[in-house]
Amino acid sequence: MDLSLVLVSFVFFFRLCGKCRGSEEENCTDHKLQFEWVFSVPGDVAMLRSTLVSSDVFDFKTVPYNITWYNSVSGQEISSQAGHILVHEDTLWFLKVTMNDSGDYVTILRTPSHCYRQACRLVVEERLPGECGMPRKAEQLLTKGVTDNLSCPLRNEMNKLNSYNISSSIKWYRGCDPIEDGTGGYEYWGTRLKIISVELQHKGTYTCTLTFTLGGIKGSVSESIKAEVKESYSLVPQVHEPSNDVIKAQRGYNFSKRCLVFVPGVGKPSAYLYWLDKDGFIETNTSHRVHMLEQRLLPQDGSSKGAWLETWLIFSELKEEDFYINYTCRAYSDRGFPEAYFSLQPADSNIIVVIGSVLGGVMVVLIITFIVYYISKINGVL
Ligand SMILES: *[C@@H]1O[C@H](CO)[C@@H](O)[C@H](O)[C@H]1NC(C)=O
Ligand SMILES: *[C@@H]1O[C@H](CO)[C@@H](O)[C@H](O)[C@H]1NC(C)=O
Ligand SMILES: *[C@@H]1O[C@H](CO)[C@@H](O)[C@H](O)[C@H]1NC(C)=O
Ligand SMILES: *[C@@H]1O[C@H](CO)[C@@H](O)[C@H](O)[C@H]1NC(C)=O
Ligand SMILES: *[C@@H]1O[C@H](CO)[C@@H](O)[C@H](O)[C@H]1NC(C)=O
Ligand SMILES: *[C@@H]1O[C@H](CO)[C@@H](O)[C@H](O)[C@H]1NC(C)=O
Ligand SMILES: *[C@@H]1O[C@H](CO)[C@@H](O)[C@H](O)[C@H]1NC(C)=O
Ligand SMILES: *[C@@H]1O[C@H](CO)[C@@H](O)[C@H](O)[C@H]1NC(C)=O
Repeated sequence: MDLSLVLVSFVFFFRLCGKCRGSEEENCTDHKLQFEWVFSVPGDVAMLRSTLVSSDVFDFKTVPYNITWYNSVSGQEISSQAGHILVHEDTLWFLKVTMNDSGDYVTILRTPSHCYRQACRLVVEERLPGECGMPRKAEQLLTKGVTDNLSCPLRNEMNKLNSYNISSSIKWYRGCDPIEDGTGGYEYWGTRLKIISVELQHKGTYTCTLTFTLGGIKGSVSESIKAEVKESYSLVPQVHEPSNDVIKAQRGYNFSKRCLVFVPGVGKPSAYLYWLDKDGFIETNTSHRVHMLEQRLLPQDGSSKGAWLETWLIFSELKEEDFYINYTCRAYSDRGFPEAYFSLQPADSNIIVVIGSVLGGVMVVLIITFIVYYISKINGVL
């Protein structure tokens, strides 16, 4: 949104809202203009909703309140008008929007001890000639090669209607053409449109339309989406190392362990690897005795579709307290957080190993000598 436009609108709002009946004497807390504006076209239904009924504003579950809507220009209270306007608590419905309905609407919420004010903006625009769908479009990204979905931005309207027990039905269009559920690789999925195996050709404009009967009027509200197809994607990462095992290591020495993760997909992998111990994340600060190195993308081997990432856990000197603890490497990605761990056990001490191998060596020599002696004796050499 254009910030200067918002500022201009604040000035405009303050100048006009002096007229809001009674609100000056009441000393209402001003929550200013809602960040989200509502865009509509003539003939559609438009819903404005106050966000003052929220625990961020007051304790709405226990404190009684009432809400009144005002026209910010005339300062007149707005009440329901058959076939045109429906006021229902925190919601102001325009059943058949006209260009004249464009403007700011003020809600004043009153509790026994306080009052709050907020403005909502409705922008009504003509439909673009020769184009189906809405003049404004939300942008959404689809990922090539996988099943993805578009999300209809009418969730608020749908939830509100549900709370009134009014049924609504959703219909999707691609450009001007209706999309039938379950055909052409499209599936309706709640407020989403699922696209099986996205291809570059799926780029385009989609519109979702919600149809329902409200205040005796059969109406609809639509949103359009400009869908782009991106070619890179990452699937659920696979942690190859560590492998949930116990590793023997020697106290007093340094030790390092790699976390190796494969991210299936195309393009830059979106996964972040972290080592954790029982106290949480291990830092990359190399002056800490136990630290991890920055994650690294390994050179592409080209044979498999995906990327290898690694990060090392470093113990500059192993101490007693490092043993018998799970060290977990977790790969954070928007597809999930797979992880694997290892733990350390003290290895046999050096001296025992040396003595063991010396004794073992002596034994072998003795046995061989004995065998050679015995065989020679049998053969009568000696
Ligand atoms: C409005 O409220 C403010 C802060 O609570 C207070 O300082 C001010 O005197 C009040 N004005 C009126 C007209 O009650
Ligand atoms: C819209 O406003 C104009 C001028 O204010 C008026 O002439 C016209 O009748 C209005 N249209 C509707 C549908 O209310
Ligand atoms: C709204 O609430 C205020 C304060 O709680 C009360 O004075 C007023 O009468 C109420 N108005 C309506 C229309 O219920
Ligand atoms: C829709 O897409 C989003 C993001 O791409 C994904 O998180 C979600 O699981 C998908 N939902 C369905 C039902 O496919
Ligand atoms: C909606 O229906 C449910 C049960 O079907 C009922 O409990 C509830 O009171 C209804 N709500 C409204 C606003 O009619
Ligand atoms: C231990 O430290 C030495 C010397 O700094 C280094 O050469 C060696 O690679 C380290 N070993 C491990 C397992 O990190
Ligand atoms: C790294 O750790 C040392 C010692 O704990 C500390 O003094 C230093 O500020 C840390 N450096 C960073 C960048 O956090
Ligand atoms: C390490 O994790 C495994 C699997 O979650 C668990 O069975 C084991 O008890 C853990 N060991 C320690 C020392 O926490």
